[in-house]
Amino acid sequence: NPSSSQCSYENYKKTADWLLNRTEQRPKVAIICGSGLGGLADLLEEKTVFKYKDIPGFPTSTVQGHAGQLVFGKLKGCECVCMQGRFHFYEGYNIQTVTYPVRVFYLLGVTTLIVTNAAGGLNDTYSVGDIMLIKDHINMPGFAGQNPLCGHNDERFGVRFPCMSDAYDRDLRALTKRTAKELGYDSFLQEGVYCMLAGPTYETIAECKLLQRLGADAVGMSTVPEVVVARHCGLRVLGLSLITNKVVADYESNERANHAEVLKTTEHRTRDLQNLVSHLIAKLQ
Ligand code: 6GU
Repeated sequence: NPSSSQCSYENYKKTADWLLNRTEQRPKVAIICGSGLGGLADLLEEKTVFKYKDIPGFPTSTVQGHAGQLVFGKLKGCECVCMQGRFHFYEGYNIQTVTYPVRVFYLLGVTTLIVTNAAGGLNDTYSVGDIMLIKDHINMPGFAGQNPLCGHNDERFGVRFPCMSDAYDRDLRALTKRTAKELGYDSFLQEGVYCMLAGPTYETIAECKLLQRLGADAVGMSTVPEVVVARHCGLRVLGLSLITNKVVADYESNERANHAEVLKTTEHRTRDLQNLVSHLIAKLQ
């Protein structure tokens, strides 16, 4: 797997050129599929599939529930490239490696990034199975010095001090809300703030209470580094969290967060999420 020193412009370019030489597709949209949400990539037509391990410069992925491949194809006639399985900081990758694919997407000519994840619900009004449109994020690892843009800034990607106040594109959010309404999904579509923690531990009760007081509506272990790097190089971003469980924020509760529960709920609502994404992609052109 690439170390941060291998995350140079030349290496991203080498990876992008390798891919461009092996597919005729020129996607404008990239989708990063979260845990249990990789089924979206299976819906693509005229697929070209590259296993991460076969792509020069690409990290390789380890977590179960993740296929570990890049899929080019058409979703409702729209060319896109899908990451079936993402890289997580908790797997031991450095934070630049986690975001390696995003700069490759940029060099492929992608202009819009759609990110999905499984997240724990912090907001009391949320139910398991809700889909949360990400309005904003809290980059907790960033607070602790783990921001993928730390280090030398390559101006070919973006500025030294990028703005993050408009990270989640307002027009894409409006389009998503409209699409959800058309599909009859408004009853389970929420909009809120996603907080990233490094993981792999789930939150303690005290940590859940803290995050709630900070204004976070959902918590997870991904997405934010990719969004930071995407915004740096000017990609438009849409983020969607599937609320797979409610966090335990009460000392009297006997419930416990566990990965099996997370995967079970994803299975249940994953179709709706796929349907929402494919319908809104069709409207992007
Ligand atoms: Cl409850 N916490 C975190 N950090 N990530 C999650 C989750 C909870 N549920 C799904 N992913």
